[in-house]
Amino acid sequence: MNHFIKVTEDTYWLGVNDHQTDLFESLWPLPKGVTYNSYLIKDEKSVLIDTVKAPYLTDLIDKIKAILGKDGKLDYLVVNHMEPDHSGAIKILRCVFPELKIVGNSQTKGMLESFYGICDDLVIVQDGDSLGLGKHKLFFHLVPMVHWPETMVTYDSTTRTLFSCDAFGGFGSLDGGIFDDELDMTYYEDEVLRYFSNIVGRYSAQVQKAINKLQGLDIGIVAPSHGPIHRKNPGRIIDLYDRWSRQETECGAVVVFGSMYGNTQKMADAVARALAEEGIEKLIYHDISRSHVSYVVKDIWRMRGLVLASCTYNTTLFPPMAELLNHLKNKMMKGRMIGILGSYSWSKGALQALEEFASSGNWDLIEPMVEVKSSPFDEDISKCMELGRNMAEKMKLCYVKE
Ligand code: FEO
Repeated sequence: MNHFIKVTEDTYWLGVNDHQTDLFESLWPLPKGVTYNSYLIKDEKSVLIDTVKAPYLTDLIDKIKAILGKDGKLDYLVVNHMEPDHSGAIKILRCVFPELKIVGNSQTKGMLESFYGICDDLVIVQDGDSLGLGKHKLFFHLVPMVHWPETMVTYDSTTRTLFSCDAFGGFGSLDGGIFDDELDMTYYEDEVLRYFSNIVGRYSAQVQKAINKLQGLDIGIVAPSHGPIHRKNPGRIIDLYDRWSRQETECGAVVVFGSMYGNTQKMADAVARALAEEGIEKLIYHDISRSHVSYVVKDIWRMRGLVLASCTYNTTLFPPMAELLNHLKNKMMKGRMIGILGSYSWSKGALQALEEFASSGNWDLIEPMVEVKSSPFDEDISKCMELGRNMAEKMKLCYVKE
């Protein structure tokens, strides 16, 4: 189906909904798919802004031809970002539209060559450069590391539309509605946070630079390359990215346990109970053997407090907990407090590994650390509850002060 949707008078959404890919980047689950949003502006010169993942190329070409006409000319392709979920269709697109000129920056140039062997018909732009299409005028703003070094955004000053690529994007396909006023945004905002925290969160400092750089623009529509288009409330999605990239957290805690036979879980239960008794209502509980790490990272990004409870496995951390810590180290989170609990039977290991993790990052370690041999007894449970109370007390003080 040549299904395209008008975003404004002569700007079209040519996005595709991918329900076939189970794992984004072969890592992150997509229970409700993902979109690759591509946009076409039809003017005296026609421009396509970003493409789609390679398997969806035929759909994209059909849609372009349906808008431009069978012999219509596509003058420019703006490449905001080279990751293949957006650039995968470039090589074939050039064969279908031989007059096509590719617009990118100096970093894009090297990647076009290394990914696709493309070296010619390039228009290299610098930060702030513009391109007139007739009625429309595009401005290019470089936002390196949101998400790769070559990433830029494109602003159409005629329609006040910001084509932001990965920035302000999220998981979840657009099956019917594509605009924020057509969708249940509660679901999408949660998936935007899962996308942000797992894909872009590591580069929060660069997200902050990008948001500051874009502040002077009069933005009426935010049109990212994944997820909904924001036309009713474009400020909302920018504000969310701003808060998350400033590492702003909520007064709540995530309790994560890794437990083979339920003994370590009892320790986590005790901390969670104490947090609840002390009035911490936002409590999220994850069994790390069963929750995918992307959901755990997403929840940890939201909350001020983190409790990690792990059994020892072959003298060190329980493997799913070790995997979580690897992800957390990579995210470089700041401004959160942490409580740690470990258990062992015949060889210690888990608590020491958790302590090394807590001391190597930017974590505020809450006492006491608790270590239990085999199974927690009353005295151990009391210590776990003391940890929960201490975390709750400190957290409440933080939010009173702020
Ligand atoms: Fe959606 Fe970084 O690619």
